[in-house]
Amino acid sequence: MQEKLQHLKEEAIHAINEVKSSKKLNEIRVSYLGKKGPITEVLRGMGKLSKEERPKIGALANVVREEIANKISLKQQQLEEEEVMKKLANETVDVTLPGRPILQGGTHPLTAVTEEIEDLFLSMGYSIAEGPEVESDYYNFEALNIPKAHPARDMQDTFYIDEETLLRTHTSPVQIRTLEQFEGKGPVKIICPGRVYRRDSDDATHSHQFAQIEGLVVDENIRMSDLKGTLEVFAKAMFGEEREIRLRPSFFPFTEPSVEVDVSCFKCGGAGCNVCKGTGWIEVLGAGMVHPNVLKMAGFDPVKYQGFAFGIGQERIAMLKYGIDDIRHFYTNDLRFLSQFKQL
Ligand code: DAH
Repeated sequence: MQEKLQHLKEEAIHAINEVKSSKKLNEIRVSYLGKKGPITEVLRGMGKLSKEERPKIGALANVVREEIANKISLKQQQLEEEEVMKKLANETVDVTLPGRPILQGGTHPLTAVTEEIEDLFLSMGYSIAEGPEVESDYYNFEALNIPKAHPARDMQDTFYIDEETLLRTHTSPVQIRTLEQFEGKGPVKIICPGRVYRRDSDDATHSHQFAQIEGLVVDENIRMSDLKGTLEVFAKAMFGEEREIRLRPSFFPFTEPSVEVDVSCFKCGGAGCNVCKGTGWIEVLGAGMVHPNVLKMAGFDPVKYQGFAFGIGQERIAMLKYGIDDIRHFYTNDLRFLSQFKQL
């Protein structure tokens, strides 16, 4: 019996020394020290032993059990440490590896130009007004002195939703919506930035969707010279202090007189170059004195009130300012194009 216990102990210690995982170690614990294990069996069989042998074997069995238990718990500790070390080794970070670059966006050039223009007019006391992109025929055309079947409707090819509803072709309808809100009482001094739509075939200078900023001032004693002075401030702010402007007669149904506004060429200073096509002048926007019919239809007395209005196309301004040669660049989201404007 003594030998058997001695043998059991050696066998167990050998197994414990060989074991490589906590799971296997636990299996050893169960098999040697568990209720169905050999030591328990020895203790259970004590009744069959002689009186002299009983205490000796009992004591020995307990010692063997204790030794095995100690050995197991030591090994357990050792295995746990090894497992932690292994995990740490797997998780090491190579701090010398180059970092992953974080891509940073920038302001879209159209947004930058729009905000620049907004800031300029806000600094001159204008407010910002907005209107819907899905507009009624009345606000987009009729109230702007463009009745049905008027040839001026051909100037702007329109996306119709139904006979009376369309995608606005310009931001001018916001003039009317704002004037109506003022209920015949000035002063009104607003700019209206927004997206507009035309049934055009896209090419380097045309897009079926583009951006506009409408300007409108209505008050008593508003004169053409107020319009000219305002546009001069605008041209200098956008293209440089040395710029001059020139007004050429034009036609818009909602203004009378109407003008096309040119700015002196910022590349050649007026001498003539490829940007101004040798003329020294670049066309930048349309403007005029608000037509009395427009004031009347929107509830303003055209005898008491006068006004001026202008329509700026941000794409055109941005293309001139940054030398962009194709309007489609604004909408294709090509990072090679956009990343050039990051600093804006
Ligand atoms: N609405 C015109 C267009 O889209 C631009 C314009 C011209 C607006 C003259 C105005 C203006 O307010 O006075 O073609």
